[in-house]
Amino acid sequence: MLWIGTSFKMTKTRAEAVAHAARIRAAVGDGIPGVQPFVIPSATALAEVAAELGPGSPVLTGIQNAHWADEGAWTGEISVPQAADAGARIVEIGHSERREHFAETDATAARKVTAALRHGLIPLLCCGETEEVHTRGGAVEHVLAQVAAALGGQGDVSRALVAYEPVWAIGEKGREPDPDEIADVMRALREEWGGRVAAVLYGGSVNRGNADALLDVPGVDGLFVGRAAWDAEGLLALLDRARARAVSAV
Ligand code: PGA
Repeated sequence: MLWIGTSFKMTKTRAEAVAHAARIRAAVGDGIPGVQPFVIPSATALAEVAAELGPGSPVLTGIQNAHWADEGAWTGEISVPQAADAGARIVEIGHSERREHFAETDATAARKVTAALRHGLIPLLCCGETEEVHTRGGAVEHVLAQVAAALGGQGDVSRALVAYEPVWAIGEKGREPDPDEIADVMRALREEWGGRVAAVLYGGSVNRGNADALLDVPGVDGLFVGRAAWDAEGLLALLDRARARAVSAV
């Protein structure tokens, strides 16, 4: 199964997010054999996006962050049960933007993974090294430590997703990776976690021009996309690439 999805990060009004979802719903129909699409809007649009996609949709919806507690005095936070109530099936955890700007750590990521699993949702754990760690050759060790810290003590993590998202490749300031640059980490993740989690994805400056080369890297079971999928046609182009690969793999 190839997982292809996007987080809208802090973009889109509710109307814009619903319009994107409507376009994806129309194009995906009953689903794409061998491909699992997903869309992670801002929390403000989550319920409406989930409603637009419909119950039992082949396109999964998620939330970009959730608290580890089920409820309580945590101003500004959203719990996993609240996210599930709004339609989320996936909980994104530990994105580098949250680690950098909102003090998320491996310890908080672990607590959030526990909460997502406890409520039957899919944790999507993000991991990745900075340019500095990458340059000194420490990427494999760094990433394996991040994932072990968040998933290691959880028991059955067969529902979980891991997204390798090198910090140096993400967003406007990121640079497109050469497939060779991600190969060692993907190989290590596959060896360590391939049989234990549902899929290991790659994310960071993915676009329709480099998607095939990135999906060719051994161990890549899908793509987690930002900018290139914020336009529905961009996500559909990536889903088409995945569809073609899934067909030729049969
Ligand atoms: P990008 O973002 O595709 O815009 O680089 C990726 C991510 O942060 O998941």
